[in-house]
Amino acid sequence: MNLVFLGPPGAGKGTQADLVGKARGVAHISTGDILREAVAAGSALGMKAKGFMNSGGLVPDDLVISLVAERLEREDCSEGFILDGFPRTIAQAEALDRTLTERGRSLDAVIYFAVDDDQVVRRLSGRRICGGCGGNYHVDFMPPASEGVCDKCGGELYQRDDDKAGTVRERLKVYYDQTADLIDYYRGQSLLMEVDASRSPGEVRSDVDEKLSGGRRQA
Ligand code: AP5
Repeated sequence: MNLVFLGPPGAGKGTQADLVGKARGVAHISTGDILREAVAAGSALGMKAKGFMNSGGLVPDDLVISLVAERLEREDCSEGFILDGFPRTIAQAEALDRTLTERGRSLDAVIYFAVDDDQVVRRLSGRRICGGCGGNYHVDFMPPASEGVCDKCGGELYQRDDDKAGTVRERLKVYYDQTADLIDYYRGQSLLMEVDASRSPGEVRSDVDEKLSGGRRQA
């Protein structure tokens, strides 16, 4: 099953992609995670991406398109994939269409996680990430058993640089300016399935499963 998870920053795309990917045995590909790893490693890609990411802007299309095309070649994508945070522009979506067509593949569905701006700000300001295993928490909505410590590996939790208030507002603006058009793009391809992402993670997960199993798409 080949999926795109679309929505504003903080909508819960990564949380759900992790759960759905494991349950269905498909690769979870987060362009944000790949880029953050590149920044941490100080690679050529990371050096180019860092400034864009820290300011809340988008990394240039050509860099992201080529990294996704390469990532889709890997063995773990043979049973399918979930693209989380890609595409983010119409140019990226068109490039993805071409890449998949060239490989005789196609998308099965695009899940759009709908959530309002106030929720986005609350979720991102409270998000904490494990420095050890990358586990995702929220200080109020998904707190670890022991404050500041990862339940899974005991690693220290930290706040992402781009989750600070000013940068979150810029990310939202960039989302509306450059990414929200993809809702109509995929609706036009009859691939879009909308999920009310303002509910609890368990409720969102059930809705995603139901929509994927039933194959219900929106006109
Ligand atoms: P990226 O890492 O992709 O950030 P994003 O899209 O802004 O998404 P987030 O990871 O912030 O949110 P999410 O929807 O995954 O929510 P999550 O599940 O974590 O990108 C970062 C940067 O990289 C970009 O700004 C850009 O610079 C660059 N980049 C990446 N891809 C690019 C591309 N294609 N082109 C160009 N540049 C690119 O949840 C958020 C919080 O809420 C967590 O704390 C979680 O625990 C909590 N939560 C989740 N679900 C719920 C729920 N249902 N109820 C309550 N809390 C919840």
